Amino acid sequence: MKYIIGNWKSNSTLSDTAKWIRKFSKKNFRETQKHIHFIICPPFPLIPLFADLVKKNSSISLGSQDISASEPGAYTGEVNNIMLADFVQFSIIGHSERRKYQKETNPLLFKKVKQAKKEKIEPIFCISSQKDPLPKRLKYVAYEPVAAIGSGQNEPAEKVIAFKDKLKLSKNIKYIYGGSVNSGNIREYLCHNQIDGVLVGGASLDPDEFYKIGSNCLN
Ligand code: PGA
Repeated sequence: MKYIIGNWKSNSTLSDTAKWIRKFSKKNFRETQKHIHFIICPPFPLIPLFADLVKKNSSISLGSQDISASEPGAYTGEVNNIMLADFVQFSIIGHSERRKYQKETNPLLFKKVKQAKKEKIEPIFCISSQKDPLPKRLKYVAYEPVAAIGSGQNEPAEKVIAFKDKLKLSKNIKYIYGGSVNSGNIREYLCHNQIDGVLVGGASLDPDEFYKIGSNCLN
């Protein structure tokens, strides 16, 4: 199974999301379901709009882009594990944009992983260099070199695989690449069995392109 993960970042609106869902739900998932699993990670307020789609379609799951490191309680603005567990199976944790703009530190990220795991939300843990430590018992690690994000300068698959070798991940961990992935360069990554999926930012905002990233892996 290959994982196509859409990270919408801080984009879209209620009406644009409804349109996105309408278009995406009409795609031919019979063609992709054996080999491709789509994981969509919209901004928090848009997550509930996907409830019907994921209920009807077993090859689509939902993820959040963040999760609180705290228990439920007096933490203004935080979105915690228990409320998210009703909606999502995954959570992106440690994206370089949050490390940079929200100043998220490794100890904080490790707490987020712990909170996610408590509610059986699977972290998709992002790192951009070997200096970023990995928490224990991860199932999904995403390598996202900062220079490749949003730049159109995707990192060649050979380098992505060489980075994986250095990490010495245990065999059961899914290794994801992210950084300027689109339907034109997807095969370069997913034709390798060392790469289990991709994290897609900009190109996931267009439902046709997002589906194509999945379907282009098949032929
Ligand atoms: P990009 O973003 O596909 O727009 O480069 C990837 C990411 O940041 O997850």
